[in-house]
Amino acid sequence: MITAAFTTFRGGVRALAPKVAVVLGSGLSEVQAAFREQASVPFGEVPGFVPTSVHGHQGRMMVGRWADIPALLVLGRLHFYEGHTPEVLTGTIRVAADMGVKRVILTNAAGGIHPTLNPGSLMAIRGHFKLLTRDDWRHLAIGAGLATPYAPHLLATLSELHQGIYAALTGPSYETPAEIRALAVCGADAVGMSTALEAEAAAKLGLEVAAISCITNKAAGLGTTALDHAEVLVNAKLAVQQLAQCIGRLISLPV
Ligand code: HPA
Repeated sequence: MITAAFTTFRGGVRALAPKVAVVLGSGLSEVQAAFREQASVPFGEVPGFVPTSVHGHQGRMMVGRWADIPALLVLGRLHFYEGHTPEVLTGTIRVAADMGVKRVILTNAAGGIHPTLNPGSLMAIRGHFKLLTRDDWRHLAIGAGLATPYAPHLLATLSELHQGIYAALTGPSYETPAEIRALAVCGADAVGMSTALEAEAAAKLGLEVAAISCITNKAAGLGTTALDHAEVLVNAKLAVQQLAQCIGRLISLPV
């Protein structure tokens, strides 16, 4: 069913013709201070979508201007652990591509594995591996994996950040210390529960992709406190300004 909110949203997208979309993950909604909304729609009213069920994720698509530049803003996302298929999880990306977007900037909250990644630091994702479905490693084994979805020229604009590998796990529980040691051996710098599927879907649609992890905690067993979602949401605020600044730079590069 097409709702009035969706019709208004689509009208706003037509009028502004944004070429860039930004996805803000857990606890990162404050990053949008430079964004001026012109129309928005909750996920539940976007045809083919479902509402999000996670605290800290609002689940809205918005169109407006980031500083002066037309942009599509996706506030919150759906997760594998909410029981959705990869098709549903990447729905925002297909909607953005349908609406003319050419560049996607993904953000997430993540646990830091690399010793320099402490709460409040940012990591530019230069590659990822997924431990989401039975077939993820098999795809790699048979050579069907993509070359990295992350655009080198966008990574180059984030040169002040640690450029690392993101491990995407299903969640919803955090990892065990032993799992984190295993991920470290496999080359992961940060761990989270999102982003990889969206990045791959976007790259397959021909979009430019950049992704930034906001480190909210030391990964399990590497810090001094037990992990919990409330801590993640609080620490996600530590890097708001730096993240907003990085996104502003990525948005303003010519598409
Ligand atoms: N593990 C997985 N996902 C996360 C973490 C973590 O430590 N922190 C924030 N999201």
